[in-house]
Amino acid sequence: MANLYNNLNLIDLNDYSVSWWEKLLDRAHEIMADPSAYVESCKGKIMGTLFYEPSTRTQMSFQTAMLRLGGTIIGFDNPATSSVAKGENIKDTTKIVSGYADIMVMRHPVAGSVKAAALTADCPVINAGDGGHLHPTQTLTDLLTLKEEKGSLEGLCIGLCGDLKNGRTVHSLIKAMSCFKGTSFVLISTPELALPAYIKDVLSAGGHPYKEVSSLDDAVGMLDVLYMTRIQRERFASPEEYEKQKGHYILDKKKMAKAKESMIVLHPLPRVDEIAIEVDDDPRAMYFKQAKYGMYIRMALILTMLEENSLKVPLITGKVHNHQKCSNPLCITHKETYLPHYFRGDGTMLECEYCDERTLVE
Ligand code: NCD
Repeated sequence: MANLYNNLNLIDLNDYSVSWWEKLLDRAHEIMADPSAYVESCKGKIMGTLFYEPSTRTQMSFQTAMLRLGGTIIGFDNPATSSVAKGENIKDTTKIVSGYADIMVMRHPVAGSVKAAALTADCPVINAGDGGHLHPTQTLTDLLTLKEEKGSLEGLCIGLCGDLKNGRTVHSLIKAMSCFKGTSFVLISTPELALPAYIKDVLSAGGHPYKEVSSLDDAVGMLDVLYMTRIQRERFASPEEYEKQKGHYILDKKKMAKAKESMIVLHPLPRVDEIAIEVDDDPRAMYFKQAKYGMYIRMALILTMLEENSLKVPLITGKVHNHQKCSNPLCITHKETYLPHYFRGDGTMLECEYCDERTLVE
């Protein structure tokens, strides 16, 4: 039986209100001021970390966050050494771990997979990245960095550069920043790696001004924040397509010289070649500090999600249409075929509850 309403889960940050995010940011600020006050806050609690895809920062910052709160961790970071290698489906693996742990963090290469896990899990589930779809805790990290370093989340001109098509951190950040007054966006990519239509819809719906450009050199001078991203090699259909896209955007000292003194550079990391090492010493380079903020916001998140009275939101708001297939070939419903096909809306266009893609009714 699907667990549509029972647990608190973090699948998409936009399932929660801006004031809920702001409480988390304030809590992280308090933790940073006095981390020693929290060393026993999660004593006796266990976090399960299920990483079906490589990770350094997300996984380790979740683990250190839990350890710094006095809790313990179980899990895997290589599905090849778990029962996944024997062909176990997501439902069974996550159902079992959610019975062992008090809270579960999951990363998976397929869009919608973490929501699929949350449907039957017995504990709260946190999305640590589902394919090219969303990455809400990276966005919380980005919001904390912006709040601490810029003083406000309003009125910022944000440039996002690189793989805007496949970069889940870009999708989550745009959805979040669209909730703040006065945000404008400059989308810097090749036409092949432009932002997907369903994220552009979020921009248009919020009435936020945005420009799509191909030159970083021309755009850098107008930005308050530059969010660099790597080209997501693992999401390309062929190595040849990746080869055509790599190396287009490299932020170096020369480009930094054209940027405002107050502009800050963010990057979710890992970097490949899109930020030259020479930029690391520039005081505007914020990416290493940003990774550290990630640990504190995850401490705040774990604490909040383990509270009995935490706000719960429904996982599914639409209905089952089992005869209807999602139009996104990279959606989890095509891989785990036992999943009910949940869609939002009615009429001729439905929105998949797992990956958010729009599908014409068959
Ligand atoms: C990002 C991710 O996994 O989406 N990394 C991270 O979590 N900090 C960005 C990336 O892999 O390019």
